Amino acid sequence: MLAHEGFIAAAEEAEELLAYAAGDPTLLDASVRRRLTGEPLAWITGTVSFCDVVVHVDPDVYVPRWLSEPLARRAVERLPAGGTAIDLCTGSGAIAAVLRAHHPDARVVASDIDARAVACAAANGVEVYLGDLFTTLPGDLAGQVDVVVSVVPYVPTPELPLLQRDTFAFESPLSYDGGADGTDTLRRVVRDSPRFLRPGGALLLELGGDQADLLTDELVRLGYLELTVLTDEDGDVRGVEATFGQRPS
Ligand SMILES: C[S@@+](CC[C@H](N)C(=O)[O-])C[C@H]1O[C@@H](n2cnc3c(N)ncnc32)[C@H](O)[C@@H]1O
Repeated sequence: MLAHEGFIAAAEEAEELLAYAAGDPTLLDASVRRRLTGEPLAWITGTVSFCDVVVHVDPDVYVPRWLSEPLARRAVERLPAGGTAIDLCTGSGAIAAVLRAHHPDARVVASDIDARAVACAAANGVEVYLGDLFTTLPGDLAGQVDVVVSVVPYVPTPELPLLQRDTFAFESPLSYDGGADGTDTLRRVVRDSPRFLRPGGALLLELGGDQADLLTDELVRLGYLELTVLTDEDGDVRGVEATFGQRPS
């Protein structure tokens, strides 16, 4: 049925739904019907694999995408043993959970503005705070943080209608809408991170298109060094990595 309805990974999805239903034909039938409406698979099964970590995902919470996995892996590399990381806009807590899995001795703190996301991240074992970006994070983190990583909403508002057909039938624009050119929240994270990063700490942000270029002047002005634009195997821009050099006077 999934293949007939044009689902790209129909065989893999069918396997996941079969495993989830565990031989219960009524549950399988209900699950397939839900999926055929376009409801995200992870909301039906309750889990997704992200960087080989099983992440619990509640309905209404953004489903972590494989496109974000390289950013999460880079954050793992930049976080020293026993270090401290902040995952802003954490959603289900997927990136924070990956950091914790690789660095059990690190302190990993997260935030999200959506209470459903915060509850989900907490269920994934993440130390998570409800609030706007850094505003509700513990003050003792100031100047101590090795890595700030985030997948913020960064889709330019005029491009929201170009997202997949079912996106807003189920998901919230709060996860996607980045303002006129998509950089509203990105700019706020760039501006506020120096208060938390230690010199030498890393800022890792997912973004796309020309957004890295749009942020460069601000990054340089604020004392970030070693700016690297992260691209995928097709050469498409997927993120930016910057090392914080010095506190602005
Ligand atoms: C694109 S999702 C990314 C979720 C997660 N990092 C991931 O990759 O799966 C963006 C998340 O940012 C949250 N969000 C949007 N604006 C925010 C803000 N100002 N402060 C904190 N979280 C915010 C949304 O609720 C949503 O969970």
